[in-house]
Amino acid sequence: MNKPVKCLISAGPTREWIDDVRFISNPSSGKMGFELASVAKKMGFEVTLVSGPVSIPRPDGVIYKSVETAIEMREVLVKLFPQSSLAIMTAAVSDHRPEFLGKKKVKKDEFPSSLKFIRNPDILQELGDMKSSNQKLIGFAAESFDHLANGQKKLEAKNLDWIVVNDISNPKTGFESEMNEVTLLSRNNEHFSFPLSTKRKIAADILNQVWK
Ligand code: C5P
Repeated sequence: MNKPVKCLISAGPTREWIDDVRFISNPSSGKMGFELASVAKKMGFEVTLVSGPVSIPRPDGVIYKSVETAIEMREVLVKLFPQSSLAIMTAAVSDHRPEFLGKKKVKKDEFPSSLKFIRNPDILQELGDMKSSNQKLIGFAAESFDHLANGQKKLEAKNLDWIVVNDISNPKTGFESEMNEVTLLSRNNEHFSFPLSTKRKIAADILNQVWK
């Protein structure tokens, strides 16, 4: 029997802690990444799903790695990427983390009126820089204007094979929605528009296009 091809998927938000009880995050539900993991598993891949904190059921039969911060997510993805033939990064990774204020709850009256932020690693950029010719790397881009032009720029800058562009100015789609509507852009300027449908259907459309 042939060994299954390995597919690595990131999903969900990251949590960036301010102190032991407070964090900064975003409303990513993890749905798009979880649907991709579920469809990839059905297609026969060995799937590893690396996710930030979410409240949706884990897809059956996938290897699941739970992480919280961008730093933790990076560590797991950088370790697993070299063995993966296909990697799809849907996680809404926080670009910044606050400077950590200390290992306890900072008292209300001692809480600073402003926080300092530190730039998080760009995990996708790092994976793009590590990528070898037998690997395919796919990123997601949430854009509120000039979404196709900005997506294409990101695709090239991060050395991706494909990028899935979400127009987040559309209230029917995006973060917490069951539905999505995306454009898939390739390195050779091909683009495929997937009209409004369930995240499950969009996941199948993406995988069928990027893995032929
Ligand atoms: O550049 P931008 O953050 O819009 O790119 C989004 C893509 O980059 C997504 O695929 C996301 O998972 C990834 N990303 C990342 N590390 C970051 C920020 C985003 O891997 N710090």
